[in-house]
Formats: sequence, C-alpha cells, structure tokens
Amino acid sequence: MCGIVGYVGKLKAAPLILEGLKRLEYRGYDSAGVMVCQDGKFVLVKKAGRVANLEKEAAKVRLTGHFGMGHTRWATHGGVTDANAHPHISSDGQIALIHNGVIENYISMKKFLLTKGYQFVSETDTEVLGNLLAYHYAKEPANAEESRFVSAVRKTLLHVEGTYGIVVMALDAPGELVTARKGSPLILGIGDGESLVASDVSAIVSRTQSVVYLNDGEIAHLTPSSFSITTLAAGEVSPVIDKVTWSITDAELNGYTHFMEKEIFEQPAALENAMRGRFSEDGSTANFGGLNITPAEFRNMDRFMFCACGTALHACMVTEHLIERFARVPVECDYASEFRYRNMPLFSNTLFFVMSQSGETIDTLAAMREAKRKGYKVLAINNVVGSTIAREADGGIYQHVGPEVGVASTKAFTSQLLIGGLLSLYIARMRDMSFSDGVQFVQALKGAPDHVRTVLMQAEHIKGIAKRYAKYRDMLFLGRLSLFPIALEGALKLKEISYIHAEGYPAAEMKHGPIALISEECPAVFFVSSGEMFHKVINSMQEIKARGGRIIAIATESCQLPDGLADEVIIIPECHEAVLPIVATIPVQLLSYYIAVELKRDVDKPRNLAKSVTVE
Ligand code: F6R
Repeated sequence: MCGIVGYVGKLKAAPLILEGLKRLEYRGYDSAGVMVCQDGKFVLVKKAGRVANLEKEAAKVRLTGHFGMGHTRWATHGGVTDANAHPHISSDGQIALIHNGVIENYISMKKFLLTKGYQFVSETDTEVLGNLLAYHYAKEPANAEESRFVSAVRKTLLHVEGTYGIVVMALDAPGELVTARKGSPLILGIGDGESLVASDVSAIVSRTQSVVYLNDGEIAHLTPSSFSITTLAAGEVSPVIDKVTWSITDAELNGYTHFMEKEIFEQPAALENAMRGRFSEDGSTANFGGLNITPAEFRNMDRFMFCACGTALHACMVTEHLIERFARVPVECDYASEFRYRNMPLFSNTLFFVMSQSGETIDTLAAMREAKRKGYKVLAINNVVGSTIAREADGGIYQHVGPEVGVASTKAFTSQLLIGGLLSLYIARMRDMSFSDGVQFVQALKGAPDHVRTVLMQAEHIKGIAKRYAKYRDMLFLGRLSLFPIALEGALKLKEISYIHAEGYPAAEMKHGPIALISEECPAVFFVSSGEMFHKVINSMQEIKARGGRIIAIATESCQLPDGLADEVIIIPECHEAVLPIVATIPVQLLSYYIAVELKRDVDKPRNLAKSVTVE
C-alpha cells in the first residue's frame, strides 16, 4: 500500500527520500512524489508510475533543500494520475501533506472548504485534508506553550473520520515535520542531527537503527535535532526508542534476480532462525518467551481460534490440522475480513490467535480488536517487530525471519507453518502426547531446514517443468488433509505472480465441480504423500488422467506412483506430518516463480497487489 518517507537534517533531502521510496516499492503503488522546502518555497515533483519515472523527472529540477518528504500512492480516491499523486499542497500554498489511509468524511469537509474559498486540483481525500490543515493553521494564534503547527494539526485531526498516517510541512516552518497516525503505521527514525519518518522501517534503516513506533492517536513533531510526541488530546507521551535488529543488507538482493527468489532460497536459514531457542531444555516440547499467558492458563483453553488473510490464513489452516491431530483440541479458522463483521459466537475458554507477516493488515488488526473488545486474549504470530498487531496483542510469537520484500510471501509462510508445528507440539504435550513422542516431534522439526535444502536442490528440474507449463491459462492444485491448505497456497502463489488462473481444492472435492474444467488445457498439480490418503489421491489422479488432463505430482519419496500416471514428478523427502507441509510448499513456490519469470512478469511487484494491505 502507500508509502511515506520524511526527512529533516543536514543532508540534501531529495536523494535520501527517493532512496527510501525505492525501498518501499515492494509494498505496491501506482504513483510517486517527492517534495523539498528550499529558498522559502515548496518544490514538488510527482508522477504516475514507478519511482524510476519520478527519479528521471526529479533529475530535471534543482532539489537542494534539506527538509522534505516523499510518497508512493496506491490509488483509493481518484484515478492514477500525476495530479492525484502526493504530496498535495494546500490552495493557499502554506501546507504540504502526504497521507496513507482513507478520510471517510472528506466530502462534507470539501463542501465546507469550498465555501471558504479553498480550491482543489485533484480528486483525492488527501487534498481535502491538506486544505483543512491550512484553514486551521491560518486561524491558529501564536501559543507560547505549543508550536502553532502541532496545534493546528491536532485541531484538524479532531474533525477527521477514517484512517491516516500523515506527514505535514508548513512553508513558514521549513525545518519541521509534523506527523500523526490513526490506523496507518508510522515510525520515527532518530539520527545524528537528522530526523526521519516512514511508514516502514526499511525506508530509513540505512540512516538509523534507532526508531520510535508511533501509536494510534499520537502526533510527533520532528526537527533535525529533536522530537516530541503528544496525543490527540494534548497529553504528553514518553517515547521509547527501539533498536532495529536487522540491517539494510538484509533487505538487498545480494546477487539474486528477485527478492522472491532470494527469499525462497533463504528458507533453510529462516526456519533455523524461527526455531532458535524455541525448544525446551529436556527436548520434548516447545518453548515460547512472549506468550504472556501462563502454561496453566494455556492448559485451560478448550478451543483455539485463528484469524488471518491470504497466505497467512493458509498457515492457520495447517496449524488447525496439526493442533486437532496432535493435541485433539478443536480449532476454528476464519478470514479476518469476515470474522470482524460476522459476530461469530465464541466459546468462553477460547484463546484467540492472529497471524500476520507484516502485522499491519487492516482486516487482521480489526479482527484482533474485535476479539479483544469481546474480552478474549489475543496472541499474534507475526514477523515485523514493533508492528501494530505485535504491539496491540496480549502476547505472541515472532517469526524472526528478517524482512520479507517480495510481495508473494514465501519464507514468512514456511516459518508460520513451523510455528504452527511448534504450537501444536506445545499444546499436545500439555495433554496426551508422551515424552518420547514429544522428543521425536522436536527432532522432526529440527530436521525441517535440511529437508528444505534437499528440495531446493531440485530447482533446475522444477525450472524445466515451469518452462513446459507456462503456456497454460488455468491450473488446479489438489491435496488432502494438511496438504489441502498447501494446494490453496500453490494456487495463490501461481495466480498472484504469473496471472494464470489457478484454484486449490481438497483432491476428492474435485469431483463435485472443478473436474468440469479438466481437459488437455488445464493441468493439475497433485500433492501425494505415503500413508492413509495415498490410494485415495491416486484415484483422484486417475480420474484426471482419464479426462486427458496433464498431471504434475509432488510426491514423497516412498510413493510408488503407477507408471505413466504423472506427466511430471517432483520428489520430496519423506518426513513428519508437521514438517511435510513446509517441505511440500517449496516446489510450488519454485514452480510459480519460474513460470512468472518465463512469462516475464514483474515478480516482486505484481500488478494490483500490495505487500501489506492497510486499507479495507
Ligand atoms: C500472498 C500474500 C498475502 C498475505 C496477506 C496477509 O503471497 O502475501 O496473501 O499473506 O495479505 O498479509 P500479512 O501476513 O502481512 O497479514
């Protein structure tokens, strides 16, 4: 979604802002802008399209100011045009604004401002907010206790309904930025003689690792040498400075062509990081530091509820399977976007979990807030440290896989699966699972990174398959039990980065409709594992074959597939039920990636998609 960068300091602002905007490109956007304050003027360049476009335009203009801001816009109100891109300057020329989020009452504000003579050149809600700020700023008396600028922002925001992360500059206060949030993340960067603000740490981590996470309802005032935070109600806030634990090289390609490729190949190390320190000393169960609920409280839970969106929901579905299978406790999963509105009846002893790589997905955040309003404790499984979900949850488990830049989630997903496995072990050991079964489970989880390495070694083989299958326009992904969510994930990966239509189904469900799609033109990817479902999955494959469909089988090594049944076979290691979904994911990630590369798609920035969906 939209990205924000602001800078006040000793260096030229524009190159730093453009660099920050490039680091935010992965979040998804359709236009970009940069503005500095210099020689008593706002100098603004904004363009529809990529940051590279903006950079070319910016090179034609003299941008020397040391104070400025930039934005990547993902259109909500108004089309993708230069005029609708941010920053927006108020019609009296005094205020400049960038904004993430949606101002719901902008129409009534606009009517009011038109009666006061303000003019509009864009179709955006942001420009309305900018003019309202200018209106309040013009009326603001000099106040000894607080800056006029902060006071005007506060008064304006009291009239706003909706969500925002904003950065504001005033022409007569050039070395100052005022920034505020409600529902849209903002992080302050505290540097040496410089201050920054961004919607995502990755935009500022090259300048400083000292950050302050702004909370909803807070307003920050930044100058090159100071920062202060107050609430919307003018209360003082004592800020906590956090240290970012990763550096900018973690968010660079380091020799790979795409971030998605890098993140696929990083998975063995990512899994090791996600499991480090997470086993009990006796080696028979899992160990979590930040649950903030006692083992006794945990033991008392009769049910678990999981909410998430997209890929993270698929990880929840695997977790549901594992907890029910090993701990025999009922689990429910729901789309966060549905849960937040459907007023679902919940049992009293239910522990609520949300899963979110970014920790900023608005639907997941809203589902969490709804569960908390109903009096449930909510734990978050989350990757981005300091994210809104992490901070508002009662406790949780960090994924610790470092920044995930590719829009298509890969290493975050497999680490969520691993944490799901750890969680099911933890809950199972509190119930019927024996010590020795626990030890075996732990050993199996520890073996996951090596199994993933083994599958990654087949990358060239999978690339060959991808070249042969990139021509198809439809594909089915079919699996059973814990591999059904992996079928959903395979279909999602393929469609989001290659734009090939794909669907995931439980293999046996195929007969109830999707089989009508089967022809030579619609191949099917089957997940086949040894064990109770083996023959049933083979039957489903036969049904496809009988109708002329081509088959790619992702099969564990001991599966004896009937001769000629599969057109392509990818062998994966035989492994524990909690590890199998992780290992089975790797071939579909690689297949989708290589198909997208073959089709020359923009793998890391697929059309219409955003890394973290912060608007409803
Ligand atoms: C797909 C993908 C999305 C996200 C979803 C939730 O590859 O990445 O489906 O999984 O938008 O995002 P988080 O996990 O950040 O809440």
